[in-house]
Amino acid sequence: MKKLIHLLLVLTLFQFTCSTEKTNNQQAAIDTRVNALIKQMTLDEKIGQLIQKNGAAGMDSLVRAGALSSVLNEIDVLAQNQLQRVAMEESRLGIPLIFARDVIHGFNTVLPIPLGQAATWNPDLVKEGAAMSATEARSSGIRWTFSPMIDVTRDPRWGRIAEGYGEDPVLTSAMGVATIKGYQGEELSGKNSMLACAKHFAAYGAAEAGRDYHTVAVPENELRDVYLPPFKAAVEAEAGTFMAAFNEINGIPATGNKFLLSKVLRDEWNFKGFVVSDWESVRQLVVHGYAHDNKDAAYKSFTAGCDMEMASTCYETYLKEMVNSGVVGEELINEAVRDILTIKFKMGLFENPYTNPDDYPAVLNDEHKQLSRNIARESLVLLKNESAVLPLKKDNIRKVAVIGPLADAPHDQLGTWIFDGNKANSTTPLQAIQDYCGKDKVIYAPGMDISRTMNRTGFAKAIDAAKQSDVVLLFIGEESILSGESHCRADISLPGLQEELITEIAKTGKPIVAVVMAGRPLTFEESAKELDAILYAWHPGTMAGPAVADVLFGQESPSGKLPVTFPRTVGQIPIYYAQKNSGKPASDETWERMYEIPPEAFQLSVGNTNHYIDYGFKPWFPFGYGLSYTSFEYSNQKVEKAVYNLGDTIKFSVTVVNTGKTDAKEVVQLYVRDLVGSRTRPVKQLEDFKKVFIAAGDSAEVDFSVPTNSLGFHDQEMNYVTESGDFLAGIGSNSDLELNIQFTIK
Ligand code: NOJ
Repeated sequence: MKKLIHLLLVLTLFQFTCSTEKTNNQQAAIDTRVNALIKQMTLDEKIGQLIQKNGAAGMDSLVRAGALSSVLNEIDVLAQNQLQRVAMEESRLGIPLIFARDVIHGFNTVLPIPLGQAATWNPDLVKEGAAMSATEARSSGIRWTFSPMIDVTRDPRWGRIAEGYGEDPVLTSAMGVATIKGYQGEELSGKNSMLACAKHFAAYGAAEAGRDYHTVAVPENELRDVYLPPFKAAVEAEAGTFMAAFNEINGIPATGNKFLLSKVLRDEWNFKGFVVSDWESVRQLVVHGYAHDNKDAAYKSFTAGCDMEMASTCYETYLKEMVNSGVVGEELINEAVRDILTIKFKMGLFENPYTNPDDYPAVLNDEHKQLSRNIARESLVLLKNESAVLPLKKDNIRKVAVIGPLADAPHDQLGTWIFDGNKANSTTPLQAIQDYCGKDKVIYAPGMDISRTMNRTGFAKAIDAAKQSDVVLLFIGEESILSGESHCRADISLPGLQEELITEIAKTGKPIVAVVMAGRPLTFEESAKELDAILYAWHPGTMAGPAVADVLFGQESPSGKLPVTFPRTVGQIPIYYAQKNSGKPASDETWERMYEIPPEAFQLSVGNTNHYIDYGFKPWFPFGYGLSYTSFEYSNQKVEKAVYNLGDTIKFSVTVVNTGKTDAKEVVQLYVRDLVGSRTRPVKQLEDFKKVFIAAGDSAEVDFSVPTNSLGFHDQEMNYVTESGDFLAGIGSNSDLELNIQFTIK
């Protein structure tokens, strides 16, 4: 046995050495080609490699002159191939273009919005979705996507919360890495590989008051502990490109931020890809008041480390002049060109510059749709299920009322950023429910045509439909246009007259199951009291209907968990689970409820803690929350040893029993608290999670291995340290859990 193990070890080591050698050889070969090419390039041609423009039309002469590196938003394969031919055959050095596009959550087959994907807590599935998106996009010649967006955010007012993975750095990192690996595959030169872009670097999700593009002020330690970890993980996952963000951070716009783009990204993390600006974000340095004019903007962003300019024209207009006058060293230009060409070689663009759609499977094929359905299914979060109204038993249903503006909204179910999605391919919940139950059982009366409407004329029919039915399926929420870039909301309650619709339907006394489609958490705690069940569906994509119906009718138990805290009211924002304790932490005992105390008795008291007198201190639903059709019992939470040394790996374990009657998946979550630090630490921090399938009556032993190194933070000097001391951990089904496992790091 020992010999066998030894042999296996030797073999593994051999394979590792061989593959490292192969990578080194490949890299050396690419370096040689890049250097040879750079030697032949004129300054104009070098600067051309730093330019990205929109659309292929009218670009021939630029490409012929070697003055363009990348084109975004051209999806006509003929036009791409034609322009690529100019690059390959008519430009002096034959350097291929990269065609880029925002492929954000699926291509023609639309997947749930990224926030919904995060709610699956299933990185493997998310990776499959990204790989599928890459294959579809490649069939349209797209070889570079501006995704994933790994901006941690604690503000649901921010419209772009829909595009990211929520409030937590660990969950965001896991989803970001899965997405990058899904897009890029094993090798960038793969037939189905699409270059990823980690964006928006950095802290874009911390925009003041949740207003897009707005000022960001975060202390460096928080930047490094909360906002940067997903980006560091992206570098480790070998994301080929980064996008500089629109926002400023502590006074310096990200696109001209040397600290971020050079010190952190290149020097500390050793990033080897290239950085692209956001749309005109180089020019915007002037608008920010950080550059005097476009020339100054070109200087500041290029020397900060932004390699490629998207859309605005500062680099092409001014870089040459600045090199010639000695303001910018040509070696700096060479470095940027080197990084861009290296990626182009790695992508195999020189060998395979053209696209033949016939080389790819049809888009929107059954397999792709099934995958989209599976991801959507796992993204659904069951927030409420009074008297186990769900799952519905279709044989017991005589009539079902389908009501609400999002029941049959093929476009809105796709969510934000769906350039290449088409509502004609959507299956809506209405269609899927009709399929499940038979058309004659379904009474459809939307009540409202869109979520924002202030028109009640549809109410009467909807109420009538409810009266005739055994159960109401109410599809409410936000249309897709109410979230996404620059679509922020100061009031995140249900828009239009939807709350009134709920009240009117509730008067019928029929059980109401609400399915909420939205690009963010919405606040409707009061109206929710009138609902028997709430299934939070985000914007689920092409297959929203079948996925929702699968869960409503119990084909699969819901297993999604919230990737973001749901506030009770907008005034609580920012509210997130990984908060600090403060010197006066709130508790149920100290919270003075202004509405429950007679006015004359309500006065300043000694119970001063960090709560709101009207809304307390707890969220509506905590991060990580989500119900199931079964029940899970957690027991035997433990740590293997009481004391660890720095550098050790800590082992945790738990027994989870499915005590109900339904097979289901559960997301087992591990949280840790560092009790005392040289800087205060959050009251809990997600360290790891595992999604496990447990059949009814079965149990699972789930364990976690956590290196002490990952329990660290940035100290006063900005060193990443894990400090020795006492820690608490907790393992459970959401972030609102007790930390009762003790251990010490020596
Ligand atoms: C602006 C957005 O901020 C960014 O995410 C996107 O990739 C670019 N536009 C290109 O469309």
